[in-house]
Amino acid sequence: MVILSLETSCDETACAILEEKNGAFSVLANIVSSQISLHAKWGGVVPNLAAREHLKNIMPVIDEALTKAHLTSKDVDLIAVTNGPGLIPALLIGVETAKTLSYLWKKPLIGIHHIEGHIYANFIDNNQRSKIKDQEKINSCSLFIDHCFPVLCLVVSGGHTQLVLMKKHLSYEIIGETQDDAVGEAFDKVARILGLGYPGGPAISATAEMAADYRGLNADKRGHKKLQRKSAWQLPKLPRPMIKSDNFNFSFSGLKTAVLYSVKKNPDYPLRPRSEASKLQIANYCYEFQQAVCDVLISKTIRAAKKYNPKTIMLAGGVSANTELRKQLGEAIKKDLPDTAYRIPETKYSIDNATMIAIAASFRYKLKKNTRKLKNNWKNLETNANLKLK
Ligand code: KG4
Ligand code: ZN
Repeated sequence: MVILSLETSCDETACAILEEKNGAFSVLANIVSSQISLHAKWGGVVPNLAAREHLKNIMPVIDEALTKAHLTSKDVDLIAVTNGPGLIPALLIGVETAKTLSYLWKKPLIGIHHIEGHIYANFIDNNQRSKIKDQEKINSCSLFIDHCFPVLCLVVSGGHTQLVLMKKHLSYEIIGETQDDAVGEAFDKVARILGLGYPGGPAISATAEMAADYRGLNADKRGHKKLQRKSAWQLPKLPRPMIKSDNFNFSFSGLKTAVLYSVKKNPDYPLRPRSEASKLQIANYCYEFQQAVCDVLISKTIRAAKKYNPKTIMLAGGVSANTELRKQLGEAIKKDLPDTAYRIPETKYSIDNATMIAIAASFRYKLKKNTRKLKNNWKNLETNANLKLK
């Protein structure tokens, strides 16, 4: 079966083509047209600008995907599209395009929840070795799929922070979630406070690495005298919100405010990378903020896993591209839950893409089997900015 999928919920116009044969998946095309440089000027995504860009890019992106896959519309068996949650002007471009193609090409159409897509990015075979409880180490996606449940998935994106328990495919129980800002949103806001621009996540991650590098330089005593002032090495102290609460919920808005208050007390406020010393101060904030986020996310995930005893822990959403989070969660699982498998998407499938939508669609199509309804779905499919995961 060949699935053509579209994703336009935020600032990426994406089209993928996925082929599924006997439970094995091949990604024939994964095209992503990013609008980051457009929105960077505004410090965040402007919904109407995003929609205009999607409109401009969507047909070229579909054309490019078909060309790359060496296929035509005749080869497509199913069209899949993100129909929520997300920015409504942006979502509508993908959904209306998918409806039009479904009508013109006479192909079934399926709507996919954006977060379901992120979770299913973990099922894209990336040749990771997975250690499954009671099973041998395996390397095959299809084998993995049969044996991974129950799954505990830490979902971390620009709009969501949730711990999701899946006892089987397409079944979701949210056991904890953020009470205010999503973790990606906190990364973006803290980056703005520190003058690092948009998107904040990758900028904070790269800058935090600099803090670690500086420490390495100091240890090596390879110069950088100015930076060796003791005060420059002092990390700001930031809270770990709700780390001890007896539930699996999160809160990141206070952490962002803690960065703001701490930065405001600094005699050099507003901190901008004017000198080596101020660069280091910014790097220290990034390092400590990122560590605070990792500490909270990892501690709650491990605690939830001890309670629900999943066979597999997964990581999903744009923030799952964060190197430290990937690494430190893996280390914590290895130490505390050595029998639990750990699955993370390749970074290109962590951030928004359409392959994840196609793979989720493949499971929905196979397991729900309501294919007659999907034939006429171009008439009925609704776009919902607040679509719930169910
Ligand atoms: O999943 P995603 O691409 O879009 C939404 O569904 O929201 O996630 C975007 C979020 C942004 O807040 C971005 O700053 C964050 O993911 N992000 C990262 C990294 N790469 C993207 N956060 C931390 N570290 C990263 N490397
Ligand atoms: Zn996303």
